[in-house]
Amino acid sequence: MTERIHNFSAGPAVLPVEVLEEAKENLLSLGNSGIGILEHSHRGSAFLAVYNQTVADCRKLAGIPDNYHVLFLQGGASSQFFMVPMNLLSKGQTADYLVTGSWSKKAVEQAQRFGTTHVAASSKDRNFCYIPKDASYSDAPAYVHFTSNNTIFGTQWAADPQVPSGVPLVCDASSDIFSRPIDVQKYGLIYAGAQKNLGPSGVTLVIIRDDLVKAGPLDIPEMLQYRTHAENESAYNTPPTFGIYLMGLVFKWMLKQGGLAEVQKMNEAKAKPLYDFLKQSSMFRGTADPGSESLMNVTFVTGDETLDKRFIAAAKEAGFDGLKGHRSVGGMRASIYNAFPAAGVQALVDFMRNFEASNG
Ligand SMILES: Cc1ncc(COP(=O)(O)O)c(C=O)c1O
Repeated sequence: MTERIHNFSAGPAVLPVEVLEEAKENLLSLGNSGIGILEHSHRGSAFLAVYNQTVADCRKLAGIPDNYHVLFLQGGASSQFFMVPMNLLSKGQTADYLVTGSWSKKAVEQAQRFGTTHVAASSKDRNFCYIPKDASYSDAPAYVHFTSNNTIFGTQWAADPQVPSGVPLVCDASSDIFSRPIDVQKYGLIYAGAQKNLGPSGVTLVIIRDDLVKAGPLDIPEMLQYRTHAENESAYNTPPTFGIYLMGLVFKWMLKQGGLAEVQKMNEAKAKPLYDFLKQSSMFRGTADPGSESLMNVTFVTGDETLDKRFIAAAKEAGFDGLKGHRSVGGMRASIYNAFPAAGVQALVDFMRNFEASNG
């Protein structure tokens, strides 16, 4: 096998090796069924067992109450940008958005097609380098939407935003889902594309409260109603079976780590050496404000685009892939999701220290 290198990709991203090993085994035959996981009918007992276990482990991991549905949808998190307002925003209502980066900006733009929106807080004034402390909500919003981790700008909400009592909180958790404990009861709906912390691209996890499912409109296409997927256990049409299977393996892996509290400890310990290094470096600096830094995507620059390019090229040569930052921030981004090994972060810090010493 080719040696695995340090993969700092923002998504699809690194997965636990033991998960990939198990999936490899089951590609040819799921257990002793004689049929590979990719080849099983989504209505057959072998796949239904996989589905049930995945849902059960998801519920256990995140402590999801019984009045919430766990759905596996398609179309990526980007499809939730319009499914959320289609289902939750009725005529005459306003939906509030906390705009902390490109993805929340896209989310609010899609919602504008279905009703009135209000930007209750934004960090656009400083190119989204911080999480706003205050928000000014509209009167009785249909819901409040926020992005818990801003993949591109390297910022993360340290705690849930405070929203007016009784207003459903909707969260795009694509890039930090299950990276720390989550109090699901505080949310009306949580969604996440799988390809960062949960598995492969092609499946989106949606956790939604039952009353919101029931209150959804009936006059939109069936595939776009949460009701359809909730009533059919995500199998109204052919679900993304491989994605569900792999997500199940990732849930099992997280449970084996000790659950979300332990995963959070791992993530904090893992990101610390990199943030500590950035604080004292005379060449590199983090782009996120203190207190807003993401444990999942660490963004940094040298302040000199030519030097950034040289660093990225040298890092790639040394086996550190995917470090180029998004064009809207520039510089570098190290995506270090749950499955990214701590040793890889330490190796990057060592490499940065050496690069600084020989190029400073
Ligand atoms: C926070 C966030 N939301 C939404 C998306 C879009 O996800 P998808 O490509 O699954 O539509 C991304 C993709 O990187 C993201 O990071």
